[in-house]
Parts: sequence; C-alpha cells; structure tokens
Amino acid sequence: MLTEEIKHEIEAEAERFERKQAACIEALRIVQMHRRWVDDESVRDIASVLDMSPDEVDSVATFYNLIYRHPVGRHVIRVCASVSCWLLGYERLLDHLIQRLGIAVGETTADGRFTLLLNQCLGACDHAPALMIDQDQYQDLDVANVEAVLEHYQ
Ligand code: FES
Repeated sequence: MLTEEIKHEIEAEAERFERKQAACIEALRIVQMHRRWVDDESVRDIASVLDMSPDEVDSVATFYNLIYRHPVGRHVIRVCASVSCWLLGYERLLDHLIQRLGIAVGETTADGRFTLLLNQCLGACDHAPALMIDQDQYQDLDVANVEAVLEHYQ
C-alpha cells in the first residue's frame, strides 16, 4: 500500500496536468525513489490514484528501463552495451564486473550492494566504455580504473 506521503506526492504531481494520467511516469518515479523499485501492489495503487487500469500503468513502467519492476540493490550499475562501447571493449569491463561482483547481468549481489544491468548508449560514445551507477556517469573505463569507481558506492 502507498504511504500517505507517497500518495500526496503523486496527487500533487497529478494536479500539474490537465489529465492526471499524464503524471504516471512521475508517479512511478516517486514510488521508486521511496522504495527503490515498483512492485505489483504499487502499480495497482498508482492506477487507483490516477484513474488508470493497472495494465496501463504497467505498460508505462515496463516501457522505461529506468523504472525497476523487480527488486534492485542499493546501487544499480548500468553498463553501456552499444556500438562505441563494444568497439572499445565494454565486454572486458563487463566480464570483470561479473567476476568481481559474483553475479550475472540482471542479478543483485548477496549483500544488496549492487545490481548489474546492461544499457543502450549513454551518450558518452567519445569516452567509451561508459557506465552509470545510480545517477552518476563514468567514462573511459577499464578493468584497472573501475575498482576505484565501485568504492564510492557502499
Ligand atoms: S555507445 Fe556507449 S556511450 Fe554511446
């Protein structure tokens, strides 16, 4: 169930639009900000607040790769797997992260610290390989320098 705080935040966002359904993405973002991911119950609750069907809310949630419909760790690593990063060796970087974290792509470390995902181009092609951790972007990465990046996130 949505807390009163979350519900009020969503309602306040919905008031900014002529049709409250237009606040759907923002509602999903609000829930995720509070809970790190959006579960089925939250989808139903958002639908109720915004006068939408749960399927409509879920279709928005699953369209955007930054909305997580499964539990994620405290920090989400999104490794760019598009062409420039591929040309400059993102696969070596990804293999290192898989070994280092002991998880496959799509999984979360046992301590809940990291979730590892792939992403399409992050807009840093001239500084590939690149990845994002939460809202932070890192560029010109390799096996040697990625460790120092991970240390920023506990
Ligand atoms: S291809 Fe990786 S940032 Fe563009």
